[in-house]
Amino acid sequence: MRNLLNEIFSEESEIPNENKILPINQDGYLSAGEIVKWSGEFESVYSPIYVKSQSGLERKYLGKYPLMSEKEALEVLNAAVSAYDSGKGIWPTFSVAERIKCVEAFVAEMKKQRDLMVNILMWEICKTLQDAQKEFDRTIDYIVDTIDALKELDRNASRFVIEKGIIGQIRRAPLGVVLCMGPFNYPLNETFTTLIPALIMGNTIMFKPPKIGVLLHSPLLKAFQNSFPKGVVNTIYGEGEKVIAPLMKSGRIDVLAFIGSSRVADILKKQHPKPHRLKSVLGLEAKNAGIILKDAVLSSTVKECLIGSLSYNGQRCTALKILFVHEDIIDEFISLFIKELGSLEIGMPWEKNVNITPLPEPGKSEYLTNLINDAINNGAKIMNPNGGTFNQTVFYPAILYPVSAAMKIYHEEQFGPIVPIVAYKNIETPLKYVQDSPYGQQVSIFGQDYKQIANIIDPLVNQVCRVNINSQCQRGPDTFPFTGRKDSAEGTLSVSDALKVFTIRTLVAAKDTDLNKSIIDLIVRERKSKFLSTDFIL
Ligand code: G3H
Repeated sequence: MRNLLNEIFSEESEIPNENKILPINQDGYLSAGEIVKWSGEFESVYSPIYVKSQSGLERKYLGKYPLMSEKEALEVLNAAVSAYDSGKGIWPTFSVAERIKCVEAFVAEMKKQRDLMVNILMWEICKTLQDAQKEFDRTIDYIVDTIDALKELDRNASRFVIEKGIIGQIRRAPLGVVLCMGPFNYPLNETFTTLIPALIMGNTIMFKPPKIGVLLHSPLLKAFQNSFPKGVVNTIYGEGEKVIAPLMKSGRIDVLAFIGSSRVADILKKQHPKPHRLKSVLGLEAKNAGIILKDAVLSSTVKECLIGSLSYNGQRCTALKILFVHEDIIDEFISLFIKELGSLEIGMPWEKNVNITPLPEPGKSEYLTNLINDAINNGAKIMNPNGGTFNQTVFYPAILYPVSAAMKIYHEEQFGPIVPIVAYKNIETPLKYVQDSPYGQQVSIFGQDYKQIANIIDPLVNQVCRVNINSQCQRGPDTFPFTGRKDSAEGTLSVSDALKVFTIRTLVAAKDTDLNKSIIDLIVRERKSKFLSTDFIL
């Protein structure tokens, strides 16, 4: 393994032709329908993948993007605010059918960029080829499902309600300017699971790609420009302090859609001068626990815990980040886990069947090593051969046992390839862990006794937002609600929920009089309003 790690990075000539990459010089940003040419400072982007050169290992240069300042950020904000025009703009007053048409045009353009974007995803964040393709395809599916969900929502809203002598038509209306920021681990999918619903419901968008994962969005700039009216989608790049703080402080951001840390979310929310006006949709930290009961079917449980904790190197908010295993089966569980872990392949993202790839966050190997050392100093051992060894950005997963509350890894979200294991005797131990945790996203229970599982489900559903039985934690299917309690989330996302969080129920109502009925009837019959209308899309 050590030899493999030493030789993990190759020479440029050994990279398959279809995966070679030329620098992407993104020298513009989208504002008010123009791709504005940037002549200021740029951020250089380097891949987490090193390439062997004559002078040693060098991180592959991927390109550059504009490092905008407060001035441009505020200009871009003006574009989004003008396009919304207090709800009078073309986009917020478009019919649902017109907005769907624009999104469909965008999807058609986006599909043409699949191979390019998948390749950039591999180079920028080192998702395996299979997972990068999955992220792209899942995003397309999400958009298509969103269109279908909107059609259904619109069909249901196209009728009038008569209640207690009042006639009403209730629809969902947009909120204003939405600032969308996604995370590096799903830079496309998670950004678009907020951007697309916010957009299709009539809001205008300020979109800042995550710090790692900017360039993969470059091929979409033209598609955004060509598919939507001016100022409806705008992009910004740069340091959060410089470009995001002024936006929030301006008070003109109506919705903050942010997936990242609660620390940053809190800072951003506090910057808004009227916090009561700001609506937030947040996906934050999680420390999902796996609870392995005494009677768990070990072969399948180990497999599920392995993918649950280590797929994409553990860099999923939904990853299993700590395992509580009953003391009677702990030895067998660990030995099977080590065996199964040995089957994971380590390498570059484009290599066949690879699982363990370079980590994109700067200083991540050092951070993980620090967590391991802290655990060792407090009594844990690395249980698997070569666990925790690394070469630059490639870090071989470590199984840590016995883990206790004295260790940082017991509390901190590692967001990386460390699997901490705690042995328990009494089921109250993992239940108390979940209860005392500042996070409340999901949990997984592994076992066979339906009575015992039922006894655990009931206290857990009031601590987290999804309890998985004999299955890893995960977001999908995307029609299921995705959220969390405590410091893990604010607002619920799913294909249909997302349409709701970026809108507000608004109605037109009138007392049931002959005059009012005639007014409504004429407006509807002569199609004088897009809101007050019985039209629907099949
Ligand atoms: O990083 C958090 C993602 O929403 C997790 O999604 O469970 O489909 O990997 P996933």
